[in-house]
Amino acid sequence: MNFDDILLKKRNGGTLTDSEIEFFIGELLAERIPDYKLSAFLMAIFFRGMTDRETAVLTAEMAHSGDCNDLSVFGDLTVDKHSTGGVGDKTTLIVAPIAAACGCKLAKMSGRALGITGGTVDKLEAIPGYRSTLSADDFIAQVQRIGIAVVGQSGELVPADKKLYALRDVTCTVDSIPLIASSIMSKKLAAGSRNIVLDVKCGNGAFMKSLASAKALAALMVEIGRQNGRRVTAVITDMSAPLGRAVGNALEVAEAVALLKGEINDSPLYEVCVVLASEMIALAGQMSVSAARAQVLNALQSGNAYKKFKEWIAAQGGDIACIDDTSALPLSPLAYEICADTDGYIAEIDAENTGILAKATGAGRVNKGDAVDPGAGLVLTHHCGEYVQKGEPMLRVYGSTPALPALAMRMPRDMIKITDKKIQPPPIILETIRQ
Ligand code: URA
Repeated sequence: MNFDDILLKKRNGGTLTDSEIEFFIGELLAERIPDYKLSAFLMAIFFRGMTDRETAVLTAEMAHSGDCNDLSVFGDLTVDKHSTGGVGDKTTLIVAPIAAACGCKLAKMSGRALGITGGTVDKLEAIPGYRSTLSADDFIAQVQRIGIAVVGQSGELVPADKKLYALRDVTCTVDSIPLIASSIMSKKLAAGSRNIVLDVKCGNGAFMKSLASAKALAALMVEIGRQNGRRVTAVITDMSAPLGRAVGNALEVAEAVALLKGEINDSPLYEVCVVLASEMIALAGQMSVSAARAQVLNALQSGNAYKKFKEWIAAQGGDIACIDDTSALPLSPLAYEICADTDGYIAEIDAENTGILAKATGAGRVNKGDAVDPGAGLVLTHHCGEYVQKGEPMLRVYGSTPALPALAMRMPRDMIKITDKKIQPPPIILETIRQ
């Protein structure tokens, strides 16, 4: 077997066998494929696609290219959750302690922000003292003790994805559904949970701009899970507007804490969190989604989810004083407000431009490895559909750069659209795909 034949077969639209895919990943890891041939192969996949079987086998081979967590000690109770990336998406901070409070085991590896989408590890590290690196033994012991541990992805998790992603990024081959699905699912398989809930974002602030493409990605990831012995549910959620009011690391921690304390109980963020947590508990506990939802509401109303959150943050060294009183979290020193220039209802909050602005404040990173400003970001004062009066603030921007007002003023004037007609905000849950 040689890679050139595999490249030619895919260029001509052929279907690769399991052993050809296995051979390809072996050659990739052995660094025997030069970047120009690999780029041609990725472009061939981009245009020719892959069957579900090819994608599932590619995913499994990628998953086994590095370390794989062994969570068998927890039986069927392990559950992971993954978001395809959104603006203001702090759901992991909320659903993970809810699920742990309901008896699920969360041994979770999370990512960092890149582009306009945030990363859970950056948000957690905005809590002074939080340690996002634990030894493998401490990681498992913490899950045994309190049901939850969340760390950053180690360097040895799915090295095949690191190589492929780096090249996809510079060869215009990121947005291929089989390549995205195998990239995401290989990391989920290697992370080891038996149950996985995927939050597939759809809208202008997400990878998947249309419902059709979000459904195709979601269905493929659910199928990859099935072919690899995992229970997977995908929930497609709207990302045409940011999720919640805060975008930025410490600001999002404060919003997550407010929800866990019961101060937010009627908003798109609340609904997404309740739905995702219910799907997680339904899979791990093998119960109906309505029974799981009752457990979620109870965990929130009883304060057990909030108690679990504090237990988790304290276990990883986070300063609990900043959780009891979130005004003690880092906040960048400069603030700038953008006010409404007319009375009316908020019709649209453009997620993509909101993400671009948040990143420019220092909340996100331009290149891998850049530092983020934990106290930077922005807060939206209104959700879509709410009424705003002329002169009232719509957006508060925080940062450490004196160029903050200029950054905010550079955003398109219609990033937040106001209408004089009462509007119905778009639904937040668009579809759920189960095995
Ligand atoms: N997230 C990933 O991990 N991989 C992709 O290809 C896209 C989003």
